[in-house]
Amino acid sequence: MRIGILGTGAVATALGASWAAHGHTITIAGRSPERAKALADTWGATAATLREAASADVVLLAIRWEGVPDVLDATQGLLTGKTLIDPSNAVEHGVGVLLPQTSAAEEIAERSGAHVVKAFHLFPAAHWAAAAGTVVPLCGDHRAALDTTATLVRDLGATPAVLGPLSRARQLEEVAGFVIGLAFAGTNPNAAIPRT
Ligand SMILES: NC(=O)c1ccc[n+]([C@@H]2O[C@H](COP(=O)([O-])OP(=O)(O)OC[C@H]3O[C@@H](n4cnc5c(N)ncnc54)[C@H](OP(=O)(O)O)[C@@H]3O)[C@@H](O)[C@H]2O)c1
Repeated sequence: MRIGILGTGAVATALGASWAAHGHTITIAGRSPERAKALADTWGATAATLREAASADVVLLAIRWEGVPDVLDATQGLLTGKTLIDPSNAVEHGVGVLLPQTSAAEEIAERSGAHVVKAFHLFPAAHWAAAAGTVVPLCGDHRAALDTTATLVRDLGATPAVLGPLSRARQLEEVAGFVIGLAFAGTNPNAAIPRT
């Protein structure tokens, strides 16, 4: 696949490295062209502008929540009707309370016109380097976008599981808020959910 990665932080680095190793064609862009070039050189990928990266077939929006409006403005018109993977945690740092009224994923879909799929928001970024046995829940409204994202999940050695439409993304985001809230309070979130 031709994958565009917007952002050069922890999530971009982890997923980009794995997808590049899997043979995908990656174009990466961020606020720091130097950082984008360093990552691209490591992966054998291409560093580009935000608009060039947003022109790929599938795009990962690996941007801190407060920067998302700027990046969606900068890529306006290019994401419409495209698969856009959203790993955002739009939560109060260290507390986990969600900031948007609806969900980050629905706000991004509204602003971009993209086929947004919520994914990859629940595990620490470094987890994607060795993700075998992990289930990655997905939410989205568009079948092809869900299928594309599911393929990229499998490429990490993980298993996709569609929870439902994008209107359920808030539930997925709240789970991350729950995990973040307990973890920052010093409790192991894995011990706080039933094993079935
Ligand atoms: N890190 C994790 O373990 C993890 C796990 C799951 C989900 N998430 C979520 O995934 C998203 C990305 O997280 P991350 O850890 O990759 O974040 P990060 O390491 O802080 O990197 C975020 C990226 O966003 C860019 N950015 C921030 N504000 C911007 C703006 N106004 N305009 C353009 N670019 C801007 C940063 O650019 P600069 O470098 O120039 O600041 C950087 O490239 C967040 O919503 C986060 O909550 C993170």
